[in-house]
Amino acid sequence: MTEYVIRGGKPLHGEIEISGAKNAAVAIIPAALLVDGPCRIENIPQVSDVTLLLKILREMGADVRTVNKHTMEIDCSGVRPGSEPTELMGSIRASYYFIGSMLGKFGTARSAMPGGCDFGVRPIDQHVKGFTAMGAEVDVRDGLILAHTGPEGLVGTRIYLDVVSVGATMNIMLAAVRAKGRTVIENAAKEPHIVDLANFLNSMGADVKGAGTSIIKINGVEHMRGGTYSIIPDQIEAGTYLAAVAAAGGEVLIKNVIPKHLECITAKLVEMGVEIEERGDAVLVRRTKPLRSTNVKATPYPGFPTDMQPQITTVLSLAEGTSVVTEEVWDDRFRYVSQLSRMGANIHVEGKVAVVQGVKALRSATVRACDLRAGAAMVIAGLSAEGVTHVENIYYIERGYERLVEKLRDVGAEIALVTETEDPSDKVEVLA
Ligand code: EPU
Repeated sequence: MTEYVIRGGKPLHGEIEISGAKNAAVAIIPAALLVDGPCRIENIPQVSDVTLLLKILREMGADVRTVNKHTMEIDCSGVRPGSEPTELMGSIRASYYFIGSMLGKFGTARSAMPGGCDFGVRPIDQHVKGFTAMGAEVDVRDGLILAHTGPEGLVGTRIYLDVVSVGATMNIMLAAVRAKGRTVIENAAKEPHIVDLANFLNSMGADVKGAGTSIIKINGVEHMRGGTYSIIPDQIEAGTYLAAVAAAGGEVLIKNVIPKHLECITAKLVEMGVEIEERGDAVLVRRTKPLRSTNVKATPYPGFPTDMQPQITTVLSLAEGTSVVTEEVWDDRFRYVSQLSRMGANIHVEGKVAVVQGVKALRSATVRACDLRAGAAMVIAGLSAEGVTHVENIYYIERGYERLVEKLRDVGAEIALVTETEDPSDKVEVLA
């Protein structure tokens, strides 16, 4: 078993460089399929979700060349319809973006029902609604999604999303960029990675307007030339380190960020008594005083991100007074609370609302990551707690955080990745 072992209770000091945005990369990699010829993508985060998507692309016949650690040159000219490795696709949620891009390019696509973190029901009806409105036939049976168009291919139309969905917005964009005519997505999601996908597509020759607003207009194009594109910094990775400093104390410069994307997070931290200073493309975070309680509602962008909800709840568990955290995106995203309670947090969950009664300190324990962001929350809790915390199931965390251990060690955290051997004293050695 591999786990993180953290000796917490130590403030963090120094600098952390943020990687490229995971949730932008997982859409941009399948988007490369739409490009005629090679494209170069920079600032790709080295996380396991990305590795898996690149593997899927390679198995489909794409030529994926590593230029350097964070830059790939991808040429999808060799990809043929029907080449999707459906079993592999079932293990990652973002594989559903291949449906949009394969439909857009070849008029046919297939995938397994997507996997990913479990926050209750995760339907894809809005994706299907979009593809169907554009003239595709979509069948979901025996765990497979099969989609195809008639001989006329996809035809642009007006699509109103019944729920604000990041995945459906991006998937419909992917299908629409090479469709005939104009597609209008109404009630679209506005997250920074939606804008990033639109910028990638436009830099390759697509015609997408309005990304970042609730109405996105896409004029289909016949060809998409290659080009070079650099992925934006990861808003959630940056937010996670901001939360880590808020919980553990100290002063850290978070580098390579877009401060505007962090405002929904930093505004809450400031309410809690954390000091934040914007410095160009960096943000300085300092926590010297006790934390104050506040209320947080996780909603689509520009609201507070659901992907930061477990991390902020962990910080609030250390704040004086009572805080109320409301989750408005996912039905079941408080499962990690039982793990935090093992560390002494006082949180009462009622459906999609958590009432957090702050405690003076968390105590070390053995806990597990229930999903990616819940795992990050356990790391934050471990950094704040005196003693040695063990975080298990860390493969979830590795899906979305590049070199987490190294980055935290650089700011003075005592954290180690430990693979258990027969000799349990190994763990102590790594931390010493
Ligand atoms: N929904 C529907 N029907 C659909 C699609 C979504 O009812 O067809 C509902 C969902 O059940 C949910 C809400 O709409 O209640 C929002 O879901 P959304 O489609 O926005 O989520 P997603 O695209 O599946 C992405 C991120 C998640 C992040 C959400 C919300 C990726 C690969 N995943 O998921 O990220 O929580 O948007 O911002 O981009 C993470 O990174 O840890 C993560 C889970």
